[in-house]
Amino acid sequence: MTKINLVTLRFFSAASLLLASFIHSGPALSAAEPNAARERVSLDFGWKFHLGNPWGDVIGLAKADDNRGPAKPDFSDFDWRTVDLPHDWAVELPFDRNADYNHGFKPVGPGFPQNNLAWYRRSFSLPKTDAGKRLWLEFDGVYRDCDVFVNGWFIGNHDGGYNGFRYDITALAHPGGTNVIAVKVDASKFEGWFYEGAGIYRHVRLVKTSPVALAPDGVFVYSRFKNNVPEGAATIKVKATVLNTTTNEATARVTCEVISPDGQSVAEFKAPVKLAAISRKEVELAGKVSAPELWSPESPKLYKLITAVERNGEAPDRSVTEFGIRTVAFDSAEGFLLNGKHYEVKGTCNHQDAAGVGAAVPDALQYFRIAKLKEMGCNAYRTSHNAPTPELLDACDRLGMLVLDENRFLGSDAANLRRLGSQIVRDRNHPSVFCWSLGNEEWNAQGTAEGGAVIGAMQTFVYSLDPTRLCTTAVNGSYGEVGIFASSEVRGLNYNFEGMDAYHTAHPGALILGTEQASTIGTRGIYTNDASLGYVSAYDDHNPSWGQTAEEWWTFFDARPWLSGGFVWTGFDYRGEPTPYQWPCVNSHFGIVDTCGFPKDNFWYYQAWWKTNTVLHLLPHWTWPGREGQEISVRALSNCQEVELFLNGQSLGRQTMKKDSELKWKVKYVPGTLSAKGYNDGKLVTETKAETTGAPAAIQLTPDRSTITADGKDLSIFSVAMVDAQGRVVPEATNSIDFTLSGSGKILGVGNGDPSCHEPDKYFSKSNIQVIPVNDGWHYKIFPDVKDSGMPELQPGFNDGDWDKVDPQMEADSLNAPAQAVFRTEVTLNAEDLASESIQLKIGRIDDRGWVYVNGKQAGESHDWASSPAFDVKPLLQAGQNTIAVAVINTDGVGGIGREVNLRFLKKVEPPEWRRSAFNGLAQILVQSDQQPGEIKLTAVADGLSPATAVIQSVSEDQAPN
Ligand code: GAL
Repeated sequence: MTKINLVTLRFFSAASLLLASFIHSGPALSAAEPNAARERVSLDFGWKFHLGNPWGDVIGLAKADDNRGPAKPDFSDFDWRTVDLPHDWAVELPFDRNADYNHGFKPVGPGFPQNNLAWYRRSFSLPKTDAGKRLWLEFDGVYRDCDVFVNGWFIGNHDGGYNGFRYDITALAHPGGTNVIAVKVDASKFEGWFYEGAGIYRHVRLVKTSPVALAPDGVFVYSRFKNNVPEGAATIKVKATVLNTTTNEATARVTCEVISPDGQSVAEFKAPVKLAAISRKEVELAGKVSAPELWSPESPKLYKLITAVERNGEAPDRSVTEFGIRTVAFDSAEGFLLNGKHYEVKGTCNHQDAAGVGAAVPDALQYFRIAKLKEMGCNAYRTSHNAPTPELLDACDRLGMLVLDENRFLGSDAANLRRLGSQIVRDRNHPSVFCWSLGNEEWNAQGTAEGGAVIGAMQTFVYSLDPTRLCTTAVNGSYGEVGIFASSEVRGLNYNFEGMDAYHTAHPGALILGTEQASTIGTRGIYTNDASLGYVSAYDDHNPSWGQTAEEWWTFFDARPWLSGGFVWTGFDYRGEPTPYQWPCVNSHFGIVDTCGFPKDNFWYYQAWWKTNTVLHLLPHWTWPGREGQEISVRALSNCQEVELFLNGQSLGRQTMKKDSELKWKVKYVPGTLSAKGYNDGKLVTETKAETTGAPAAIQLTPDRSTITADGKDLSIFSVAMVDAQGRVVPEATNSIDFTLSGSGKILGVGNGDPSCHEPDKYFSKSNIQVIPVNDGWHYKIFPDVKDSGMPELQPGFNDGDWDKVDPQMEADSLNAPAQAVFRTEVTLNAEDLASESIQLKIGRIDDRGWVYVNGKQAGESHDWASSPAFDVKPLLQAGQNTIAVAVINTDGVGGIGREVNLRFLKKVEPPEWRRSAFNGLAQILVQSDQQPGEIKLTAVADGLSPATAVIQSVSEDQAPN
């Protein structure tokens, strides 16, 4: 039997670790559970967004709840843009050649203070029944620093663009009332050397639990087998952390039920728990699942663990955690082992951004991206170089993709361990995660003894939270006896594999993984380098000095199982790092697929050698007007034993394929059909062809899914192809396409994979705010007491003709303190004004306090003489004459109303005009559902081409296909 070095490098000292010292998060709940106390409510919709911070430092330090500007609950964000999360404001900015090339030439970060700060605000109501519940506000990730306010109170600052975080907002929330969240985001610092986005670019939610409940991230479930090889029954181990936030001792019962992939209850186990007042306790439970169905990328079988905290007479706290039963290990001779057997890692490193959306990737796009990588034979994903969003891990669990889950900052200081700890406890239930990566290419530390010691401390810390997986750290060079490589449980090899045979001989016990390889460069559909346009030929011939071609690295790794396989830099192209060029190039060329997921030719190289199905692909395309008679390099990417090439039916020779290689011919160009036949054991097994196409004649729209869920989040990803009269994609077409959409959806973004394209990914409606000044006809009169809302002077129809006149365009100085007065005027509106989406009454100043009435009904009050209060008055207004009355108490100096009064009308906005050019025949458009089921119709038109229309259905959740 294989010797499995699972934990040989661990030095575990539980005593040194304070498990409870970092913020815990909520278990992976798929939905609110019926009859249970726990609820998980998405807060993704309906945020107001403002780029810029003219309000300065809004946090008042002298007194509690003394924050200003947008932090205040009654701040008016009326004219801010409405956005849904996830949202990335960097992708919305125009490209700027003075901006950082590594970050994709978007004007954020150092040097662009005007674009680095932004505010998000949102209100939500809570039912009265939430009184007494514990309320957690959870963020999956914000780039980068943020200050969070709830109901005007500062509740926390989070520093770091990739880790999730949460706040217990129980004390500040208003059950039975409205609550306001305000988030000030600061994207001025870079963490990486790649595009990072800006804003609340991941999900936000509210989690409600009873006061005695599972702690956030309080369920850890894993399976164990004897010798770490799956044979017979699996032991299911559960560590459930229960939190008692009451001031009384609490007794409860923790129950666990395991549900099999086909929905059967296969195990139940329970344990009592007694908690002191205000305390937390970890309860360890275990059960058995006989004949388990194992998880693997090829068969991603998922179990569910239902964990409940039951107390007499109360609704149980219940959470559902998806998990997989499988084992992972590394062996010095056999490399990585999945379920006890050698498993070759055929991996890709990826950054998180995508065409059309930047870093704000909707869940459906995560699934699309993972499925695209699987189509190529990729079985592992490295979340370079940061913690992923949890929904990416869900996609990997469900579709079957191993994950090397990477940490951003290397360091064993308290702040870094807290961040790392939050990542481990959040992600450790995911069967897809097979190994933790603690860092990447730490040039300053990788060759030093301190670097090695820090890695040792981090590994020990990780082990205390997850005894089931090892850690690696990606190292580039510095493979000596001291430093990070030498101290790593699994030695992460970036490039430089030439010396590895000697290293393996000298270090026979070392566990090794190819954490990063290749960095092959190429542009989709391009076959000559062109520095002025920023394109690199897509033949597998180009790599920077530190990298290799696909064939070079894979040939080496495929022959050496002890290297465990490895990760290509990268699966998808990403924004930034436009190696080997700079401006006008704004994207990387490293991807095997472009930013949209359209394959470059190397896709078929990997498919040929990473998958078992028969593959035969020819490159380049065969439409080269003007190159008649010139020699063109033709290649076949295939796993057939032999391939024969034909031009217009004439054989150009049959060649034998070497393992992990490609075949090459030189062919004089003649228009027509270039074709190939693939043979195994002398028998024809497959054929392919590339035809010379005509000019673009029509647009073709192809959705990846024709039925999506009407939840306002789901997506259909449309390929847009320029085709000739015979329906063949025209390889170099660059037509500009205009899109219109009608029905129950919206366009989320557009892209085309061109690394040098500067067209926008996003288009916006022009904001349409109309202002009607209400400065005429004001009269006021002093009264001893204006606090009675029933005063006839506040009602419509009252004759104020003999009151004093006042001009509210002036300073608020008509009253001398102490004084109380009523101010009145009238304004006439028509039906068109009233059809506005919302209407706001804004008063420049009410000094010192005021109560505002519209047509006799109270619109709101103001208690801050320095603010410009604004009131939502649409429900109170009518066509014709309207009365506005303000009761003012001036307690100090001069006062009254002043600095202009305006009515502001937010008119319905026209949808933006969306367009994108094709790049080498293709473009992409992302179409998102809204929350109403119905048809979504997308139309694409371009000059001189037949237009295309595609219709998809958006259906309610219960009708949506899985
Ligand atoms: C690596 C680095 C990656 C990326 C890549 C480009 O050294 O780890 O983040 O920069 O080079 O080839």
